[in-house]
Amino acid sequence: MEILNIQNQKRNYLPLLLLADEQEDMINRYLDRGELFALMDPELKTVCVVTQEENRVFEIKNLATVPEAQNQGYGKRMVEFICRHYRGRCDRLLVGTGDSPLTIPFYEKCGFQISHRVPNFFLDHYDHPIFEGGKRLIDMVYLEMALSD
Ligand SMILES: CC(C)(COP(=O)(O)OP(=O)(O)OC[C@H]1O[C@@H](n2cnc3c(N)ncnc32)[C@H](O)[C@@H]1OP(=O)(O)O)[C@@H](O)C(=O)NCCC(=O)NCCS
Repeated sequence: MEILNIQNQKRNYLPLLLLADEQEDMINRYLDRGELFALMDPELKTVCVVTQEENRVFEIKNLATVPEAQNQGYGKRMVEFICRHYRGRCDRLLVGTGDSPLTIPFYEKCGFQISHRVPNFFLDHYDHPIFEGGKRLIDMVYLEMALSD
């Protein structure tokens, strides 16, 4: 298993990125300014995009594991890698997600704690209703993890 830092042709990874964020123009807002990582074992299993939001504050903007490889520990290993990669230059690692039973328990298992909400984020920024686990997403829920040196 290896995790690659993808610098070129990031849009080749769009099919998997769209699994976590189904509107392409939203992905375009962060893909170029973010770092893209791909976990290979030996084929592509998980992608992750991380952006810098403030001094020493980074945010996971996208994390997706191919459906056939979910629940095999790849997503958690990607989060562990991200924590190691940014440790030393990051105090707070954030992730924003829909208020969904499919994602919040995963991030809590990875060590994140719920921080705050952005009300109506999915109504204000997406051009169509987004459903996850049968539930319409309305607010963005932010979780955070403190990274110490
Ligand atoms: C969310 C997602 C990235 C998780 O990746 P994954 O590779 O399947 O996760 P892992 O196998 O590493 O799971 C790690 C832990 O979280 C748990 N977990 C994963 N999904 C869960 C869920 N919906 N509810 C409860 N626990 C969950 C796993 O059981 C595992 O627990 P363990 O450490 O006790 O064994 C994956 O389901 C996915 O790609 N979903 C679609 C895209 C998406 O919604 N991305 C997040 C929005 S940015």
